[in-house]
Amino acid sequence: MAKKIHSLEIAGTPVYIGQGVFGELQEHLDTKLATREVIFLLADENTIEHCYPVLISMVPQLEKANKIIIKAGEENKTLATCEKVWNQMAVEGANRQSLLINLGGGMVSDLGGFAASVFHRGMPFVNIPTSLMAMIDASLGGKTGVDLYSLKNQIGLFSKPSSVYIWPGFLSTLPHRQLLSGFAEMLKHALIADGAFWKKLTKIPMAVVSDWEDHILTAIQIKAKIVNKDPLENGIRRQLNFGHTLGHAFETYSLRNDASPLTHGEAVAMGMICEAYISYRSLGLDHAQRDELVRNILLNFTHYKIPTTAIDELVEITHYDKKNRKGRLMLTLIRDIGKAVEGQQCELALVRESLFRYTDFSRHIPRE
Ligand SMILES: NC(=O)c1ccc[n+]([C@@H]2O[C@H](COP(=O)([O-])OP(=O)(O)OC[C@H]3O[C@@H](n4cnc5c(N)ncnc54)[C@H](O)[C@@H]3O)[C@@H](O)[C@H]2O)c1
Repeated sequence: MAKKIHSLEIAGTPVYIGQGVFGELQEHLDTKLATREVIFLLADENTIEHCYPVLISMVPQLEKANKIIIKAGEENKTLATCEKVWNQMAVEGANRQSLLINLGGGMVSDLGGFAASVFHRGMPFVNIPTSLMAMIDASLGGKTGVDLYSLKNQIGLFSKPSSVYIWPGFLSTLPHRQLLSGFAEMLKHALIADGAFWKKLTKIPMAVVSDWEDHILTAIQIKAKIVNKDPLENGIRRQLNFGHTLGHAFETYSLRNDASPLTHGEAVAMGMICEAYISYRSLGLDHAQRDELVRNILLNFTHYKIPTTAIDELVEITHYDKKNRKGRLMLTLIRDIGKAVEGQQCELALVRESLFRYTDFSRHIPRE
């Protein structure tokens, strides 16, 4: 029996999901990708160990690909790492007729997509996401880039992968904390656009979920619907940034201060708690829904504790948010669970208030 495969398009990129995706990739390597002169495969030190052997067992011709291996972790999503990638590609004869395959989580697809897109003014790349975060979000939609002085995604460009192949089997080796990180982004997809999906996701703790494929497909369909209306993020695509203004502030703060920094998803989860409070204060989100959101996030994620003395630094980091306009902070908020509204101007005083609440929200949000 043929292996199951779903396909859809995001911003013109074909995306394949399911057990049968490697048959599809093999066929593409034999047909439309056959003209590529040199194939490079970018992985980090973990995905080369856990995912590469699986990939070549299913697509043996990729054994011949030139491997580029980078250090894992957000702290390596930098121009310095790109320079290493560009050097190796240059030495090994890469050009516009080459192809880069990004095998990894969002760090690899963000950095690899960027590195390929500016090498020789643009070399094609495909994404094979291996983390839940990359499967439902980072590998899709054409945002590529790197961090600058630990400020998130300051350097980058919109550049579409030629195709994306999502094989949920890679999740079997993904550490639990990283699975949880992707789950935060999945909760966010539900919160902004699909109340029924939110109910489904919050019925049981994430640890009990065993079959990810349906959830992945629903999350991707939400992202596709939004990105296809606004590929370059001039309007509705900003909805996908719910939780990210404060989330990126937590992430940057943690990268600067913690030996074991927050994952992207953990930071977004904390950001959603603050932005739900702002939604309640300025957009009329019902307090019962706000409390439901916070309770469900805390069911899966540990409250990241910050001292009140950190609030100034967190507020300062939000000034670098790419959604800001004319020096004003612009947020995506939610009116209801499943209904986001982008482009909401927010006073810094309210951001500060949300962070004060956050430092001590157990006093304010009743547990069930
Ligand atoms: N471009 C976008 O639209 C977009 C959207 C969301 C997030 N992002 C970015 O994605 C990044 C976060 O992605 P992430 O959570 O995948 O982080 P990541 O790529 O750093 O991966 C997390 C960890 O899991 C390991 N790993 C990945 N897959 C594995 C597997 N199958 N088995 C074992 N280990 C595995 C990695 O080596 C790494 O140590 C952030 O930089 C974030 O800014 C981008």
